[in-house]
Amino acid sequence: FGPKPLAGRHALVTAGPTHEPIDPVRFIGNHSSGKQGFAIAAALAAAGARVTLVAGPVHLATPAGVTRIDVMTARQMQAACEAALPADIAVMVAAVADWRAEAAPAKLKKDGSGPPPLSLTENPDILAGIGHHARRPALVVGFAAETGDLIAHASAKRLKKGADWIVANDVSEGVFGSDHTHVQLITAAGPEDWGPTPKQAVAERLAGRIARHFDGTP
Ligand code: C5P
Repeated sequence: FGPKPLAGRHALVTAGPTHEPIDPVRFIGNHSSGKQGFAIAAALAAAGARVTLVAGPVHLATPAGVTRIDVMTARQMQAACEAALPADIAVMVAAVADWRAEAAPAKLKKDGSGPPPLSLTENPDILAGIGHHARRPALVVGFAAETGDLIAHASAKRLKKGADWIVANDVSEGVFGSDHTHVQLITAAGPEDWGPTPKQAVAERLAGRIARHFDGTP
């Protein structure tokens, strides 16, 4: 195919962590850097797609040709994804917080009565929502970070969340914040080991694979 194989396609990408406020100055979060999701957004844009990147709080420059929507919480990320539909492609890379707290309206104080109780509520699963959506994108891709039984867990996740593909990472190998990773692409046909590779290369390979999918090339 030509240099812009995804021209005319709209891709929705989520990236980064979410921050769930506890009070006006504190939050529950995680160490996701957003690098992998931003690299995927860049690669899809380079392949000609119109890209909407819904980004949690990260310190990264917006890739060329990408429309970025900044959000803080999981519920804001979900609303931004919903508003971005319809899309042909969804690649959900964000490390969404599984739980949120009920945020106190004023800063919690050490008043001698001990630590405040944190009552947590489960956040919506954005990928599962998109995977089972009435306006489901034609191709839905999720990520899975696992520390054991990588293929079994990621394959189960693919079915449960209604994803076509899962990019599965063994995070016991120390990929957080790193520029390198080791992934398996899990499709209906089974797992493909992509070997140890830079995150940048995963982004380019995935974009190429997505382009081939729409092209009809096996
Ligand atoms: O269940 P787990 O967090 O391992 O699933 C990871 C995949 O699901 C990633 O693609 C992530 O972006 C997505 N996810 C989501 N919303 C959540 C939790 C995970 O979109 N609340």
